[in-house]
Amino acid sequence: MRLIFLGPPGAGKGTQARTLAGEQGIPQIATGDMLREAAARGTRLGLEAKSYMNRGALVPDDVVVGLVAERLDAPDAQKGFILDGFPRTLAQAEALERLLKDRELAVERVIYFEVSEQELLRRLTGRRMCRQCEHPYHVEFSPPKRAGRCDRCGGELYQREDDSEAAVRRRLEVHAAQTAPLLEYYRSRGLLTAIRGEGSPQEIGSAIRRAAGGNTAA
Ligand code: AP5
Ligand code: MG
Repeated sequence: MRLIFLGPPGAGKGTQARTLAGEQGIPQIATGDMLREAAARGTRLGLEAKSYMNRGALVPDDVVVGLVAERLDAPDAQKGFILDGFPRTLAQAEALERLLKDRELAVERVIYFEVSEQELLRRLTGRRMCRQCEHPYHVEFSPPKRAGRCDRCGGELYQREDDSEAAVRRRLEVHAAQTAPLLEYYRSRGLLTAIRGEGSPQEIGSAIRRAAGGNTAA
């Protein structure tokens, strides 16, 4: 299974990628999570990335493409993967196509999550993340069992700096300008399936499994 999860900030890509990747025994390759980990470790790349991320801008293509290229060569990615939040620009999509071609691989399906702007704002402003394992929670829709603590690893929950209302608005603009053109890119290649990203996580998960099984209605 080689999938791309595409969608605006807060669409539920991370939530769904985590579940499906866990079930399938393949990695969730989430560039946002990888960049946040690098920033938390204080590496040069991480600190540079943080300045873009905190203001809701995209990190330069070459940085992100380099990270993904390395990750795709890891042993656990050989059976398949779910790319969550990558690619996000046409240049990244073209770079990915080349990376996979060099490895005699191809993406099987691109799932686009359709969610209204009002719902995205509600999800992002109420989101809390585990500092240790990056598992997403929501204060209203999926609260942890113990306030402020991750159910899975006991890590501390925090609010992402780019989940402030100003950064969220900027991220939505960036998505419309730079990432939305990928819909046509993948539609023209017959790879795109749009799913309704609103409803219970279980309903959305079922729609994704149907789409990954070959339904191309987009
Ligand atoms: P990234 O971390 O990828 O953020 P994003 O794409 O903006 O998306 P989010 O992670 O905010 O949302 P999500 O779709 O994963 O939703 P989630 O499942 O958490 O990127 C952050 C930054 O890193 C970028 O702005 C950029 O600077 C940089 N970056 C990353 N990749 C890059 C790239 N390729 N190129 C350049 N720069 C890059 O869910 C959201 C909330 O909703 C949660 O609280 C969750 O619990 C809740 N929720 C989920 N599903 C449901 C549901 N069905 N009903 C109700 N609530 C739900
Ligand atoms: Mg995410």
